[in-house]
Order: sequence, then C-alpha cells, then structure tokens
Amino acid sequence: MKLSESWGKRLLSGIIEFDHTSKNFPGALRPAVDAVTLDVQEGHLVVLLGPSGCGKTTLMKMVNRLYEPTGGQIRVGGTEIHRLKVTELRRKIGYVIQQVGLFPHLRINKNIGVVPKMLGWDKTRIEKRVDELLELVGLPPQEYRNRYPGQLSGGQQQRVGLARALAADPSIMLMDEPFAAIDNITRTRLQDELIRIQRTVRKTILFVTHDVEEAIKLADEIVIMETGKVIQYDSPLNILTRPANEFVARLTGANDVLRRLSLQTVGSIMQPAVENNRNFQQVPQDADLRDALALLLSSQQEELTVVDGQSQPVGRLTLDLLRQQTRPADVSSTSTVTAES
Ligand SMILES: Nc1ncnc2c1ncn2[C@@H]1O[C@H](COP(=O)(O)OP(=O)(O)O)[C@@H](O)[C@H]1O
Ligand SMILES: [Mg+2]
Repeated sequence: MKLSESWGKRLLSGIIEFDHTSKNFPGALRPAVDAVTLDVQEGHLVVLLGPSGCGKTTLMKMVNRLYEPTGGQIRVGGTEIHRLKVTELRRKIGYVIQQVGLFPHLRINKNIGVVPKMLGWDKTRIEKRVDELLELVGLPPQEYRNRYPGQLSGGQQQRVGLARALAADPSIMLMDEPFAAIDNITRTRLQDELIRIQRTVRKTILFVTHDVEEAIKLADEIVIMETGKVIQYDSPLNILTRPANEFVARLTGANDVLRRLSLQTVGSIMQPAVENNRNFQQVPQDADLRDALALLLSSQQEELTVVDGQSQPVGRLTLDLLRQQTRPADVSSTSTVTAES
C-alpha cells in the first residue's frame, strides 16, 4: 500500500480518498485529524487502529459528513463528497456503531427496513430483502423478523445493526468499534461472521478498533494512527514485522512471536522435499506457523514433513527455519509508509 505523493496531478485511486484531510475542533489545542492522506481500495476491509483519542472516529465521521473537515478533501468514488447531497452520500454508506441504536418500539423487520422504506421500495421487495439479510447475518428470519430489539441479546442486536446498515446495499460500510461492548466469545463469533459476510458481499469497509487482535484478524490493511496522524498504512503482516517506528512496535506488540507466526503458512517458508526415510510427523502446507511450532514441539522431533491436500509430501519444516521467523522485528527496517507531517 502507498500513500500518494502530494504534488500536482491526482495519484490517488481508492474508492475512499482522504486528501490532506484535517479536522480542528473549535478551541482545541491541536487538530483531531491532521492532514491525513490515504486511499482505501474498493472491496478492502481497512482498519483504523490507534489509542483512544487519536482521531479514528473523527476521521470516519467525516466520510459520511457527520463531521465537516476543516482542511483538505475527501472523495468517494472519485467525487468530492461536498458535491453530493448528504442524503445521496449516506445512501452509499452503511454505518454501524457500538450502540446499535435500534428503534425499541419497532420489530426487527421494520428496523432493518427503515432505509429501503425511505427509498420508496414496495412492501414485497422490503420483506424479501429483510429475510435475505437476516439469513446473511445468521438470524433465521421466521424466528427473528417479528421480535422487538429488547428480546434480543447484545450480539444479536449487533447483527441486526449490521443487517440494517447493509439494507440498501451501500458500497461502503463504516464500522466504529461495532463489537467493543460485546463479550469475548460473542465478539469472536461476530468477527468470524463479518469475515464470512465480507466474502459474500465484498463491501469497502472502514473499521475502527483499538483492539490489535481484532485489527489483525479482520484487516486487509491497517492504518495506524497517533494524535491525528497516520503513522503507518500497511498489511497486518508488515505492521507486525516491519513496524514504522517504536510507537507502532509497542502498540501492536510486534515482538509477540506467536502472533507473527500465526500470520504465516508452513508453505511460505518450507524447504523443498528431499528424499528421506525417516518418519516425521506431517503438517499441512496451509497450516500456520504457530500450529506448526506446537506440533513440532509436541512431536519431539526436529523436523516436520509438509504435505499437500492429498497428504503427499511437498516439503520439510525444520526448527531452524522456524527460528529464523521468530527473530524480533527490526524496528529500524524499511517500512512502506510513514506519516506525512
Ligand atoms: N465533537 C467534538 N468536539 C470537540 N472535540 C472532539 C469532538 N470529538 C472528538 N474530539 C476530540 O478529538 C480527538 C479525537 O477524538 P476521536 O476521533 O473520538 O478519537 P478516537 O475515536 O480515536 O478515540 C480527541 O482529542 C477528542 O477529544
Ligand atoms: Mg472512537
């Protein structure tokens, strides 16, 4: 990933483009968002990650004009957002927040159908869409469409919130710590569901979290923010293995060896198979290195035989190879992006 250079002609190409976007709240000592330039590629899930108060929510809320930038531009689909009507802009953008904000006196189907109804869809079309969405978010329609929000658990309400945001099929989803107030087990399940749903619907998703594990799990790319600035914009693996500076390294716990191992597959580091007559334990080539390490340690051997889907040997994984992956990240090493100032 790259941040665009700031000269002359338009080099950005994302579906959401922040172009030196700033937000100064009246009376604040420093900008909440400080000349952020980045582009979000269509169909990607990009996570804004950083400590509380670093500007994640402010940056996000400028996309659907809940906040107005005080400097720079934001383009959606190539159009500067102020050239669109707010209603038109928001129709393209689903919005999910921590407090779902379902209407308590409306049944689930009515809650999900709010936007389609505003858009003037007919009753049959809305009903069909509602059922389709309930199905998508894992709530059987017959069972849930006529309930009230108060009859659902927090996790289920969050699913309804997601369904509602998807209702009019927006191309962009903004999700601001949607799972933060939910217990661990349910959160993990919702994250898995989001990954599954994203595979089906392929939205462009801007997702805010302060939870590193969540970011790593969900993101195609992570934007690390500190005091209103983008510090690094990169893949989860690069964020962990090539943190742009000490702040990123500390934030993500880049020295957490296991976490890094879990992002790489056996196939990506194995050595080609060589004839041997020793019987080593087998490991699938698509297993991650964290599992492989556990297997290696429990097998009490110094080597594993890597196999493909048909259990045919395709390579070997040694403890030495694994050790090479577990060296602490070199913080001073090259990173693709650093903050613009
Ligand atoms: N409506 C507002 N008025 C004034 N200051 C605000 C407002 N919203 C956020 N801020 C300030 O802007 C900074 C960034 O806040 P925010 O975007 O909410 O951070 P994050 O979402 O990363 O926790 C903070 O210093 C916060 O106090
Ligand atoms: Mg926030």
